[in-house]
Amino acid sequence: MRVFITGGAGFIGSHLADACIARGDAVTILDNMSTGSAKNIAHMQGKIEIHEGDIRDQALVEKLVEQSDIVFHMAAALGVKNIMEHTLESIDRNFNGSEIVLHAVTKYNKRLIIASTSEIYGKNPNQPLHEESDRLVGAPQKIRWTYADAKALEEAVAHTLHKTHGLKVTTVRFFNTVGPRQTGQYGMVVPRFIQSALNNEDITIYDDGSQSRVFCHVKDAVRAVIKLSESDLTIGDYFNVGGVGEITIKELATKVIERTNSTSSIRYIPYSEAYPAGFEDMQRRVPDISKIRHAIDWQPQISLNEIIDSISASSA
Ligand SMILES: NC(=O)c1ccc[n+]([C@@H]2O[C@H](COP(=O)([O-])OP(=O)(O)OC[C@H]3O[C@@H](n4cnc5c(N)ncnc54)[C@H](O)[C@@H]3O)[C@@H](O)[C@H]2O)c1
Repeated sequence: MRVFITGGAGFIGSHLADACIARGDAVTILDNMSTGSAKNIAHMQGKIEIHEGDIRDQALVEKLVEQSDIVFHMAAALGVKNIMEHTLESIDRNFNGSEIVLHAVTKYNKRLIIASTSEIYGKNPNQPLHEESDRLVGAPQKIRWTYADAKALEEAVAHTLHKTHGLKVTTVRFFNTVGPRQTGQYGMVVPRFIQSALNNEDITIYDDGSQSRVFCHVKDAVRAVIKLSESDLTIGDYFNVGGVGEITIKELATKVIERTNSTSSIRYIPYSEAYPAGFEDMQRRVPDISKIRHAIDWQPQISLNEIIDSISASSA
């Protein structure tokens, strides 16, 4: 297979590239290195084709799509902090950039997997979240939701192109995916906590830490993506991909301290100190993964303890 991965120098994209190389694919990546890094793909040098460029470069995207059999569209601006500080640029990349990829793949009639997000469900309190759960997002001026809005529109355009032009697309909604190579720089909680713990510095929790999440190891998530892409039955469909085992952020901090034998203390700060005005959070975010389990017999296998150990081993 000739595989084209947008955002291939990023966290999930680089693990996906590893999996495709292991499968024997010819891999091409396109990345503008905004949040991705050369370090993530250094070990692939000579094994893959690397293009440093932007998904908004239509001519380049069309050329790379034409030369491929399947496209994994992972490129996006993400990280709550990043979105809130670079709002217009993020919307442009996530919506206009994705539109270019979607139309190019439609034009050349290739197979496509797009990366969406659990953020699209917003603050819906009815957990766990299944694929038909309602979206409940705050006012447009609550800037955090622009990421979810752009991703939701991308999903809607993909769905429409599937209906009207036969686009062979499968949508993956990742829930809190974590593992080695993820950076804590843009507000991601697990790498941020582990980095602080390894440095024996205070672990900073926003608000009171009673908010909860479920984490999924990137290797499990990549296995799901590959399996979804191998089945024609998933074309035109959309799937949650997430872990099992809900944990509060306070419990997570305690667990990270224990597993890294750290002397860190926990400190609490209000959201208003951590984020610019316009931030709001969701209290819980729990995936219902029964749809993907039934469709391709996938479920996560890597526990949270193993996740923390693998990240701390790779960051030490
Ligand atoms: N990690 C998660 O928990 C999570 C959760 C939900 C959804 N997602 C989605 O999964 C995908 C991958 O996320 P990730 O966690 O690997 O993040 P990441 O930031 O590590 O990867 C995104 C990659 O896209 C690149 N990129 C950004 N804008 C680009 C542009 N305009 N042109 C070319 N490259 C560009 C970045 O440099 C980076 O390498 C994204 O679409 C993201 O929205 C991730």
